[in-house]
Amino acid sequence: MILFSAKPEAWAEWEAPLRAAFAEEGIDVPLAPEGDPAEVEWILYAPNGPLRDFSPYVNLKGVQNLWAGVEAAVGNETLTAPLARMVDPGMTEGMVEWVVGHVMRHHLGMDADICRNDGQWVRHVAPLARERRVTMLGLGELGSACAQALASLNFDVTGWSRTEKRIDGIATEHEVAGLERALRGAEIVVLLLPLTEATRDLMDAERLGWLPRGAVIVNPGRGPLIDDDALIAALDSGQVAHATLDVFRTEPLPEGHPFWAHPGVTVTPHIASETRPVTASHVAAANLARAMRGEAMHHLVDRARGY
Ligand code: NAP
Ligand code: GLV
Repeated sequence: MILFSAKPEAWAEWEAPLRAAFAEEGIDVPLAPEGDPAEVEWILYAPNGPLRDFSPYVNLKGVQNLWAGVEAAVGNETLTAPLARMVDPGMTEGMVEWVVGHVMRHHLGMDADICRNDGQWVRHVAPLARERRVTMLGLGELGSACAQALASLNFDVTGWSRTEKRIDGIATEHEVAGLERALRGAEIVVLLLPLTEATRDLMDAERLGWLPRGAVIVNPGRGPLIDDDALIAALDSGQVAHATLDVFRTEPLPEGHPFWAHPGVTVTPHIASETRPVTASHVAAANLARAMRGEAMHHLVDRARGY
């Protein structure tokens, strides 16, 4: 059977699109949100659901993560079956819209100018996008789509990744050696990196200091990519003018956390881009169909790399 493992309320939203997509792929294996672990061969896995111990699933052949981020599953020693991460065109579209929207807010100075309602005619003309340097940390499925969308609006985009990349219209840097070049001069930095041992606390005090004074951070990646204390200090000193944060070390962001009250922080509640059941069901069904035919699943996680 295929187990749908997520928060109980998610089943109502996913059942119909999953059944339709599985029918299209000709998959007639039973699908349910619970069942005898010994009968389960495949798991559709949402990391915010209750399942942590995979050891009762003795006949497990593969897991399709329902999220792009796999940090909750990749280090789980009870999960030894192949693990595929979610690459969902609906999620990519959603992330492009969210990132472009938040970059535009800061680029245009919407808070200071367009939203003024105090009767003062203070004019601030934003530079053109071509004069605005944006750096995208992470050039994977989401980062590359966002970088290309920003470049199509004429932003001066630099991207940074682990391996070398060539993307039309975008300057690229890679590895730790390229990070300083990617950050120096970056007026707006967007983080779309996975959380791994190599990326944890990547944006620490030193690297925040490489940014030009008054830079803006937009983080829809993962909270621990940024050292919270270093970010607060950089905000307090004016080194960072604003941080728009969608993801946090602890979620929901605890009451009383300094981010809630800081005037330089915008908190969004991990909504930058959800997996969309209709589009993602097709991805999951096609990937499970491959695995059932004996082919390797797409987007398999490299456990040593952590993503
Ligand atoms: P992805 O396709 O795996 O891309 C990851 C990118 O990060 C790749 O370009 C990779 O480099 C780069 N990278 C990884 N480790 C690195 C390192 N040590 N140094 C430099 N670059 C490194 O992932 P994705 O689908 O774009 O998703 C990215 C992340 O977004 C997810 O892991 C998740 O945390 C987050 N996310 C958040 C939301 C939300 O709603 N807030 C929604 C979806 C995803 P290479 O290309 O060289 O491998
Ligand atoms: C959401 O944060 C995801 O990783 O898909």
